[in-house]
Amino acid sequence: METKVFKPTEVTAAAKLIQAGQLVAFPTETVYGLGADATNVTAVKQVYQAKGRPSDNPLIVHVADVATVERFAKPLSVAAKKLIKAFWPGPLTMIFNLKPAALAPEVTGGLTTAAFRNPNNTATLNLIREAGTPIVGPSANTSGKPSPTTAQHVLHDLDGKIAGILDDGATQVGVESTVLDLSGKQPAILRPGAVTAAAIEAVIGEKVLTEQHHVGATEVPKAPGMKYKHYAPDAQVYIVDHITDWPAALAWAEKQPLQMGVMATDAILTNNHIPANCEQFSLGNDVQSASRELFAGLRHFDTETEIKDILCQAFDNNGLGAAYMNRLNKSAGQTHFSV
Ligand code: TXA
Ligand code: MG
Repeated sequence: METKVFKPTEVTAAAKLIQAGQLVAFPTETVYGLGADATNVTAVKQVYQAKGRPSDNPLIVHVADVATVERFAKPLSVAAKKLIKAFWPGPLTMIFNLKPAALAPEVTGGLTTAAFRNPNNTATLNLIREAGTPIVGPSANTSGKPSPTTAQHVLHDLDGKIAGILDDGATQVGVESTVLDLSGKQPAILRPGAVTAAAIEAVIGEKVLTEQHHVGATEVPKAPGMKYKHYAPDAQVYIVDHITDWPAALAWAEKQPLQMGVMATDAILTNNHIPANCEQFSLGNDVQSASRELFAGLRHFDTETEIKDILCQAFDNNGLGAAYMNRLNKSAGQTHFSV
């Protein structure tokens, strides 16, 4: 099929495709999503097919308003309402208990909960409103690959497999939303994102479990998606943990017989000698720009070069850095450059 590219002003045409049960990729502030009518089981099944996604990995339901959440979810807690007020629209996905049979098992992976998100992108909020239905949306990449932060990334993976894409340029945050489980006794972050644990705790005045906590046998579910291989480029990524490791890392790279990739901030790229066999990809100035550029950099080396080895900068594992490091660690399969 021909994949139609829509401008933000052409939302109506894109919404018609969603209504007809077709797949349309959509922009958000985090990454591009692969959209389908959340109430159309046939369409939802096609999302899994197009991505090659395991069917037990549930999808996020994207909504344009809280009333839609309340249609499907059990009554929201005070904490949930506070978080909605503080962070929606924005990069916080919340998992709520569902009313019985509110959503098809294809959407929830058979769970009695579902993940809801109100993305901060005007074109996409209009798309959801015009389609008149909530839209499921996993990241619009082939399963296992880095998430797409531009329409070109989406087309690279899914051109010809989906009916359309709403192109609103590059996304701003670059790493996927924080996934916060509010279905159990204690709020738990299942996936770190731009809305940090500290920011959530400040709003609800309650301790939030973070991804590293141990889930007891009776305390399912953690995000089923976390068990799958993720964000993995074809190239091998080596994490360079400290700024002081760069001279040694680059000296090692220089000795390699092949072209190497180097992903780091401008400060590192200008303060170190970059060997001739190293191609640079700038992560900008700080953890914000690095998060925005991480997936684009990994994709750049895979799709536009022959490079098979990438050195990439680590950041402190807190705040947005926790989200960045979560994705980088997965991309690298936990491989670190060691001095
Ligand atoms: O920023 C984002 O969240 C992007 C954009 C497109 O909105 N979406 C996204 O979706 O990253 P996806 O499907 O790639 O990741 C959703 C994660 C998966 O790890 C999934 O297992 C988890 O959320 N999840 C979804 N529903 C869940 C549920 N009911 N219980 C536990 N985890 C759930
Ligand atoms: Mg994903």
